[in-house]
Amino acid sequence: MKDILQQLEDRREVARAGGGARRVAAQHAKGKLSARERIDLLLDEGSFEEFDMFVAHRCTDFGMQDMQHPGDGVVTGWGTVNGRMVYVFSQDFTVLGGSVSETHAAKICKIMDMAVQNGAPVIGMNDSGGARIQEGVGSLAAYGEVFQRNILASGVVPQISLIMGPCAGGAVYSPAMTDFIFMVKDSSYMFVTGPDVVKTVTNEVVTAEELGGASTHTRRSGVADGAFENDVEALAETRRLIDFLPLNNREKAPVRPFFDDPARIEPSLDTLVPDNPNQPYDMKELILKVADEGDFFEIQKDFAANIITGFIRIEGQSVGVVANQPVVLAGCLDIDASRKAARFVRFCDAFEIPILTFVDVPGFLPGVGQEYGGVIKHGAKLLFAYGEATVPKVTVLTRKTYGGAYVVMSSKHLRGDFNYAWPTAEVAVMGARGAVEILYRSELGDADKIAQRTRNYEDRFANPFVAAERGFIDEVIMPHSTRRRVARAFAALRTKKQTNPWKKHDNIPL
Ligand code: HXC
Repeated sequence: MKDILQQLEDRREVARAGGGARRVAAQHAKGKLSARERIDLLLDEGSFEEFDMFVAHRCTDFGMQDMQHPGDGVVTGWGTVNGRMVYVFSQDFTVLGGSVSETHAAKICKIMDMAVQNGAPVIGMNDSGGARIQEGVGSLAAYGEVFQRNILASGVVPQISLIMGPCAGGAVYSPAMTDFIFMVKDSSYMFVTGPDVVKTVTNEVVTAEELGGASTHTRRSGVADGAFENDVEALAETRRLIDFLPLNNREKAPVRPFFDDPARIEPSLDTLVPDNPNQPYDMKELILKVADEGDFFEIQKDFAANIITGFIRIEGQSVGVVANQPVVLAGCLDIDASRKAARFVRFCDAFEIPILTFVDVPGFLPGVGQEYGGVIKHGAKLLFAYGEATVPKVTVLTRKTYGGAYVVMSSKHLRGDFNYAWPTAEVAVMGARGAVEILYRSELGDADKIAQRTRNYEDRFANPFVAAERGFIDEVIMPHSTRRRVARAFAALRTKKQTNPWKKHDNIPL
């Protein structure tokens, strides 16, 4: 009996060693942790339960029968993050470059199936050379099986991808279909075709980092939602994010203890909006002052910074925040901002996270590039996302909100539940200057007349009261009491029930 127990320990030892000490050292030399070290840091201590530690591939081509590593290049299982269950897979680059075989993918599929069945998030740590070349089409089919599960799990359980090494070719499409992608700076990249193929086909010379590194995907493409300095930071921040999220679409996000008075008054907010309407101010200040303990988990911080998205808590409850940022492009909506915010709003709605919207928007960004790039369809994504969302929606107008952008930004007309405005708010078709130039074109030569017309327009529309008279604004509130008003609004909406007409699914302008 003792021998058998020892045999198990020996087998476990071999599986835990992955590709061996030399390859683990090479991984460390690149500043990367091993697959198991990552799991240990992500999960609560001692909570990891492994599946399929002894799974072996069945390939015999190209001498593969002699290249067996128990577990086949991916560590899978479940554990807890601050006591709440999550499923994980962590690709082991030390075993055949973390390449994906039929059995490797089957392990991932197994935990994804369990995650959907049992209602818990899936967190994937990607570090792989892609489809296992020796298995040919078998490994492509295996990827297809993972993709299909990503699709079916979408909107059922949160899916998070950490890119911690290579992720290339069709392999990128699994993370691409998950809810959040986080990358590690300098040690991860994602691209559909690598620098060599790019050089051959388009003659462009580019490094892997330039083509698909963390900076590229968090700043230019918007593929990734965040970039972290190293594996440790990426894993710690993922734990932080998980704390904001429900485990599945049938549960509410967890309510955390809070030590911040929901009625806290913030006198500094009364002077946040400058007297000069052309002067910007930092909308993040408002977000931080409204949030419990100033805790804000920002999503896509470096992409389309003219709109801010992320999670805060109010009275311990998770809230998704969307806010125009006057500091960047005057807070205009453009293609990237619309895509970014629309996806965020849809995530919140899918997982019953209430949405708080802070509005200061001069309109959609004009330009040939925007029109040719399809701003009509992209802007419609955000409009559609807000309009279909049935979660509690609280909106605060801080300054201007003009034209179509007024309607888009969680207005009353898109079933906004509580629509508040600060006294500094202006709801109008456009700014005074532009309006007067259209209405009084024949008087443009007379500066005094135009100035008078502009003042008249401002007197009439540069305030929140015209909208409030119509009931489009529920109440004009003091900036210093924003946290209290917003907290009470969300409290009043905890029992909200709203449904959309039956349909197979909608046809959001993709
Ligand atoms: C089998 C692989 C492998 C793969 C790496 N290895 N990728 N084995 N299939 N796809 C093995 C290597 O042979 C090597 O084994 C070990 O992993 C480490 O790889 P190195 O090349 O030494 O590491 P490094 O220099 O860091 O380079 C990493 C790499 C490179 C850039 C990822 O290995 C590489 O280019 N691999 C091929 C990538 C690729 O083209 N994959 C297919 C993509 S298409 P030894 O024993 O020598 O240490 C795809 C389609 C998905 O994935 C389809 C979805 C539908």
